[in-house]
Amino acid sequence: MRKKLTKAIFPVAGMGTRFLPATKSVPKEIMTLVDRPLVQYAIDEARAAGIKEFIFVTSRGKSALEDYFDHSPILEQELERKGKTDLLETLQDTNMDSGAIAYIRQHKALGLGHAVWCARRLIANEPFAVILPDDVIAAEKPCLEQMVEAYEETGASMVAAMEVPPEKTSSYGILDVQEDMGSIVSVKGMVEKPKAEDAPSNLAVIGRYILTPAVLRNLNKKKTGAGNEIQLTDAIAEEIGKEDGGVYGYRFRGQRFDCGSKAGFLQATVAFGLARDDLREDLSRYLSEIVQIDKAAQ
Ligand code: G1P
Repeated sequence: MRKKLTKAIFPVAGMGTRFLPATKSVPKEIMTLVDRPLVQYAIDEARAAGIKEFIFVTSRGKSALEDYFDHSPILEQELERKGKTDLLETLQDTNMDSGAIAYIRQHKALGLGHAVWCARRLIANEPFAVILPDDVIAAEKPCLEQMVEAYEETGASMVAAMEVPPEKTSSYGILDVQEDMGSIVSVKGMVEKPKAEDAPSNLAVIGRYILTPAVLRNLNKKKTGAGNEIQLTDAIAEEIGKEDGGVYGYRFRGQRFDCGSKAGFLQATVAFGLARDDLREDLSRYLSEIVQIDKAAQ
């Protein structure tokens, strides 16, 4: 019987230089969208998809991220004493069970494939998910949960996929589609960050993966690819065409924000703010006011 997906890897070792000076002392993943750190969105999505073991691949300077998941008894007692049950619940959602979360250091920044490989002993011979917290996806049914349902049909490695403007292919892993079945596509090739003129399509890999343990074995070779880094894309691509392998792309339903970029982070902040009952009215009034002022000034 196929093993159930219960483990997820969160590669969070990046230095977040695009957000300096903020990331000088705060890990990028702790930066907040409205009032929750990026990483909390990733954890919630993983939980909704049935993930029970959370593996963070970190680096120097990420201790705030480890502290974030600790219980905070003094704060909890204080909120309880004051009867602030809503806040208490919000806080308790951030607690992780003892032993459910592991931190592994990536000692050298050798690429995303290398970061995932660092977690190999905790994964052993099981399928696993990879979630890149920079990619925040707003969806009625969380993206990874949608993928788990599709994976139950295919049983093969699967990457989240989304059409991007052709001039943006050089920022993504790009799929060469064999058969397009709508939300699921079978893949006959994958290229990391090709120039527009070399890209086999404009269907891009987004930071959600369900992978078979064979991908970890491929990473053992530590082969470098685009940007001279060990690429996860290449290790997944090795599974294409194998009898017990294969790779699928999954066009998820939802809106993806690139929170690795400042513009994407701001857009996500507005979208998540507008989605909140307690903020919608004030925020939308403010937005329409500034749009009018901007138009009048033109
Ligand atoms: C990584 C992957 C790339 C993927 C992207 C999604 O790139 O290497 O294949 O398309 O995430 O966000 P990065 O953005 O870390 O450079």
